[in-house]
Order: sequence, then structure tokens, then C-alpha cells
Amino acid sequence: MRLHPTLLSLLLIVAACGRGQEGSFGPWAAGWRYDEDAEPTAAPTAMVVTTDSLASAVGVETLRRGGNAVDAAVAVSFTLAVVNPEAGNIGGGGFMVVRLADGTATSLDYREKAPLASNPDMFLDGEGRLTDRSVVGHLAVGVPGTVQGMWEAHLRFGALPWPELVEPAIELALGFVVRERFLQSLSGGVREELTRFNPDAGGLLPGGRVPRLGDTLRLPDLARTLERIRDGGSDGFYRGETADLIVAEMRRGGGLMSHQDLASYDAVWRDPIRFGYRGYTILSMPPSSSGGATMAEAANILERHEVGALPWGGAARVHLFAEAWRRAFSDRNHYLADPEFVVDQPLEILVSDEYAAFREADLRTERATPSSEVGPGVEAFLGASPPEVTAERAEGEHTTHFSIVDPDGNAVAVTTTINSLYGSKVSVAGAGFLLNNEMDDFAASLDTPNQFGLLQGENNRIEPGKRMLSAMSPTVVLDPDERLFMVTGSPGGPTIITTVWQTISNVIDHGMDASAAVRAPRVHHQHLPDRIEYEPGGLADDVVEALRALGHTVRERRGVSGDAQLILVGAGGTLTGQSDPRGGGFAAGY
Ligand code: DON
Repeated sequence: MRLHPTLLSLLLIVAACGRGQEGSFGPWAAGWRYDEDAEPTAAPTAMVVTTDSLASAVGVETLRRGGNAVDAAVAVSFTLAVVNPEAGNIGGGGFMVVRLADGTATSLDYREKAPLASNPDMFLDGEGRLTDRSVVGHLAVGVPGTVQGMWEAHLRFGALPWPELVEPAIELALGFVVRERFLQSLSGGVREELTRFNPDAGGLLPGGRVPRLGDTLRLPDLARTLERIRDGGSDGFYRGETADLIVAEMRRGGGLMSHQDLASYDAVWRDPIRFGYRGYTILSMPPSSSGGATMAEAANILERHEVGALPWGGAARVHLFAEAWRRAFSDRNHYLADPEFVVDQPLEILVSDEYAAFREADLRTERATPSSEVGPGVEAFLGASPPEVTAERAEGEHTTHFSIVDPDGNAVAVTTTINSLYGSKVSVAGAGFLLNNEMDDFAASLDTPNQFGLLQGENNRIEPGKRMLSAMSPTVVLDPDERLFMVTGSPGGPTIITTVWQTISNVIDHGMDASAAVRAPRVHHQHLPDRIEYEPGGLADDVVEALRALGHTVRERRGVSGDAQLILVGAGGTLTGQSDPRGGGFAAGY
């Protein structure tokens, strides 16, 4: 498939149209960086919103050639592995929520797994202190799931031949033009980190140097790996030459992944978490992601309040959200984990209205509840005594989400990652791709938080073959008539859950259109550390003061939060899409 002429025309497709619903929101804080009145992209038939214009173009091209939303998702995913290598991947994992026009809804868990040779204390030193080996280097790598996930999705739902879905990525790997975003991802010492394990970082840094804007970057090793995947399906990754190269890389750097780990990797179809909110139905990821259940608990608490009547951006609304999230994250960190290993997770309770009522009973509108007074709640709900429990976080947006609606109204939401920016920083010599550092999403220590400040419990301890708990939340929303209404998701570690929820609430509670819902400033709370975080300039000073007066610790983040990719279905089926200006992706449709 030759891309280039179509690419050009697709990049010109950005049609603008009027706002969806009239807003009951605003004004935004005076210091906020994004325009409240910008228009989303509109299209009558189909839409693809991703973190990269080339990937969005590949998605649209796949749909135009008769592919469905799942075909487009597979093609986009492989493309992102080339053009957004800091997050897009074949060396990581992710989650897909599929909602077909006929009402079928399912989700695919292709999260990484701990290697069979791993053990709970593998990241602790002789004194029991957490080392940085869960974050950097070969030990941090979980068994990748992305290729198996794409293969499973293709086998179950694909319409186009597999090779056609991989081919656009191969073409791009043979040469694509270096753009600003790629260079930004290599700034601030990242070059030094990447060259530590492999002198040219799998080809991303030819001669060990950062390429220049406008250079054509050629990734021949990655192209050959993708060709093996094109020709062999998932076996082209998990067996044969690619597997040999991965295992050789592991041996070279003291990693654990073996041929057996790769050959036995499986992706799993699961029923999505399904919950109602003001007549709408939300479909999101079940464990091994915490996204759906945590969002459901918080949403059920919020549904008990007139959120839409509260001034948007005012202290009362931020307070309420923080209180709901504090409770939901406390439960998340304690109960949720890989369902194959922790079979007794109280999922049904966590997402129930009865439990929300119980959790909401001590929520005060006039003061913050300190997180020290909020623990996991299921035992108390059931009349048993509460469990013992107990964190800081860093920042970063290094996951990638994309949303797709095809001409038949099938919808796919995918969030995929190698965890940190460029994952473990280890690239597979001879194979041209980066490996994840997803092992850090386990509770590698029970008393030291991970890189996102999450202090997690026994249920999420490392075990051989287990999937580490995620926060990724690809999400589909149906309207009160069960028609497709929204497709969304975001990167951001634990802020994924709060970003996705604010995007949904902005639309349902406040009537924002796709553009405003994504551009609006965001806040975050995750139980511990016990504080509300807001984006720079995102809250007015008097709102910050009012929140402090309620008893909250409030902190301005160093950077923005999230990189949401949203599609809204309007009356008459018109699609509007918005790629988050925080990340610089692209909404394309026709
Ligand atoms: O699965 C998770 O929850 C994390 N590994 C996601 C990491 C992420 O979003 C990084 N970007 N900020």
C-alpha cells in the first residue's frame, strides 16, 4: 500500500463545524492555556483520533479501504510503534474496548505479564529497600502483550488481511520524517538514558545522536521485525528470530524473560465493566486494569450529587470529585489485581450503587476527609473489620490512546504503553524496538510507592506469570437509548482514570462539546498522596484558597495532565473528534 498521496489528502480533511451542545460551564480560569471556543473536527461517516497525524491517517486509510474499526485499530497500533516510539509499541501491552454497532461489547486484555522467573522481592536490596531496577533496565521488563493482542483482535473481528494492517507501519519504519514531538520526547537527558543499554537505541539515535528536525529516520531492524510479524502473525514475534533476539537481549543485560515466557503469552477477552451514570452507560476496562472499577465507584458517588448544577471549575465541584476519587483509589489500591491470580476481588460490590451510598455516607460537602481516615471499605460494608493499610508521585505522559468509529458505527478504544517514556530504556539489539518497564506497576514494595506514587497492596504483589495492575481506561459511553455516544481514553498513570472521568462528566454534566471537554483544565486526587493536583493555570486563585479552607492540600503540577483522544457522536450520527492539544495528536475523519 502506498501511503503518501493519500496521507496528504487525509491531512487536509479537517473539516470544522458548529459546537455540539450548548455549554453550562465556564468561564475557565483566566490563566488557562487553551481556548474555550475552539472547534472540534467533524465528519459524517468515520473518525480516527490518535496522538499522531500519521497514525490517524493510516487509520482513516484502513477504514476507506473497507476495514472496520478493529482493523483500523490494529493498523494504528503498529504505526504508533514506529512514529510514537516513546509510548506506541510492540514491546509493551495495552487494553482494547470494542463496542460493535450490533450491541456486542467486549474488551481485550493484552497487558504484560511478570516473567516466570520473577519473584515478589526481586526489586528489593539486602535491606529490603526498593531499588530503581523496577523502572530502568532489563529486570523491569514484563512479557510484552501488544502483538498477541493485535493478533487476537484481528482473528476475532478483522475484515482485512493481516499483512495489510502491518504494511503501513513497515513503510514508515523504512523512513519517516522527524517531527517536533519526537525531538521533544528525546530532550532532557533521555538520550543518555537510552544509549546506556544500546548505543543507537534500536536505531532511534543513529550514531548515538538525536536526529534533526526534518531528517528522514530509517529503522531497518524494526522494519524487519514488523515484516516477520506481517508474515508470521503473532508467531513472528513470540517465536523464531524475534523471540531469539529478545531472549538474547535479556541474557546480555541480566533480564528474566525466556522463550517459554514469550511462547506462552496469551491475551484475554473479558466482559467490560459496565455502569450507569445519569441514564448513560459506561463501558470500560475490568482488571487487570483498575480503570473501569475505580471510575465506576467514583461516578456512583458523584451521581448522588447534582454535579451539573455546580459551577464548573468552582471549589464545590473540585472538592466533590476529590472526595469521590479518594475513596475509589483507596479501594483500587487495596483490592484490585490480575483476576487470574486474585479470584475474590469484590468487583460487583465496588461498582454497585449500594456501595456508593455506603462510601458516600461520611463525605462532607463542607470539609475534606483526610485520606488517613479513608481506607478500603468493603469489609466495613459487609460488617467485618477493616484491613490494615497505608505514598509521592512523579509526572509524565508516556502512554498513547486512540479512539475509532467506523462507517458502520463500530467503536474501538485502545490505550497502550511501555509505561515510562521509552519504557525500560532497553531496546532489543537487532530488532529495533523498546521494551516496557511495566514491572513497576506491581507493588514491588509494600511500603514504598511506585513511580506514580501508588502504594498498592498484597493483591498486586509480583508473582510469576501475573499481570501488573494498570490504570489504563479505554472507554465507550452509550446514550440513554444505548446508542454510541463517546469513545475516549488517555495516558497519565493514575491520572488516566480522573482524566477520562472529567472528559465524560464535562460532556454529560456540563454539555461541553468534544473540543471543550478535552481542552478544559483537569484536577486529580488518588487517595495518597493526600492532595489535589491541578494543571498550571488550571484553577483560579480564589478556588485554590477555597479548597484549602475546606481542608485540602492543593498543589499545582509541574506539567499538564493527560492526552485525551475523544470522539463524540451527535444527533443524526455526526461525529466530532478532538485530539488533546496537550499532546499534539490529530483527529481525522471523512
Ligand atoms: O498501566 C498503567 O497504569 C501505567 N503503566 C500507565 C503509564 C502511563 O500512562 C504513563 N504516562 N504517563
